[in-house]
Amino acid sequence: MTATIEMEPGDKGRSARVAPAAPADPAATADDATGAAARGEFAVRLAGVTKTFRDGGAPVLDGIDLDVAPGEFVCLLGASGCGKSTLLNIAADLDKPTQGTVEVPAGRAALMFQESALFPWLTAGQNIDLALRLRGLSGRRERRAEAERLLKLVRLQDAYDKRPHQLSGGMRQRVALARSLAQDSSVLLMDEPFAALDAITRDVLHDELVRLWEATGLAVLFVTHNVREAVRLGQRVVLLSSRPGRVARQWRVDIPHPRRIEDKDVAELAVEITEHLREEISRHGR
Ligand SMILES: Nc1ncnc2c1ncn2[C@@H]1O[C@H](COP(=O)(O)OP(=O)(O)O)[C@@H](O)[C@H]1O
Ligand SMILES: [Mg+2]
Repeated sequence: MTATIEMEPGDKGRSARVAPAAPADPAATADDATGAAARGEFAVRLAGVTKTFRDGGAPVLDGIDLDVAPGEFVCLLGASGCGKSTLLNIAADLDKPTQGTVEVPAGRAALMFQESALFPWLTAGQNIDLALRLRGLSGRRERRAEAERLLKLVRLQDAYDKRPHQLSGGMRQRVALARSLAQDSSVLLMDEPFAALDAITRDVLHDELVRLWEATGLAVLFVTHNVREAVRLGQRVVLLSSRPGRVARQWRVDIPHPRRIEDKDVAELAVEITEHLREEISRHGR
């Protein structure tokens, strides 16, 4: 089976082929996302985004055009230092582009990092509670119920009273994910959220994230330098070049979920993308 359609930069998946699916099928989400993209709808739109940190310095990002459709799962892939975090921070409105525009119709996107960044003196539940308060939920009982619902969603229903140091790295990332979901945004930006975890824990969290994405219909922009992770998760993989960061190439991934990191289709596409990533690195890394 051919698992992908290779797209030119800027194609934004409009010509993508997605397997027909029954409504309850996970691929239905893919269909929705492709349909939304075809109608010109977007959850995130970066247009001509250029970022230079120093006056007169070389740009880190150069003319990035990137749409994420509502409900779409996009993986942004690139070598270390190519500007992935810079791009995500701009999408999250934590930083401003030097040129170009960013549109997120939902308002602020939720953001999750490699480090869980939980407050160590608060319990898991209190960390989530804080996000709910920032969102403006005033009723204590309502917040408690919502925090418990979110913990259940990430399969940590018994963790409300646990402090971060009592939880494993994988559990802390689950709490961080629940806290991101507490913001109730329809857009989730993730910056290498599983990079510090061991392979088995990462694999479990990949499953959990896909399950959550299917259940919630969130648009996800997931940054990684791990090619297999990108292919394992995304409906689309966008490869950034280095120095300056540009959209070098993108691939639509229509391998049906559930996917495994060791699946033949996943591995084959990962090999192909890795070749392009290597080219990008050797072109700019000399
Ligand atoms: N606040 C900043 N000031 C100056 N340079 C920065 C800043 N943030 C990132 N950079 C530079 O921008 C480049 C891209 O960084 P980053 O976006 O963190 O890359 P990635 O996440 O892909 O590893 C790097 O060369 C980094 O040193
Ligand atoms: Mg980074």
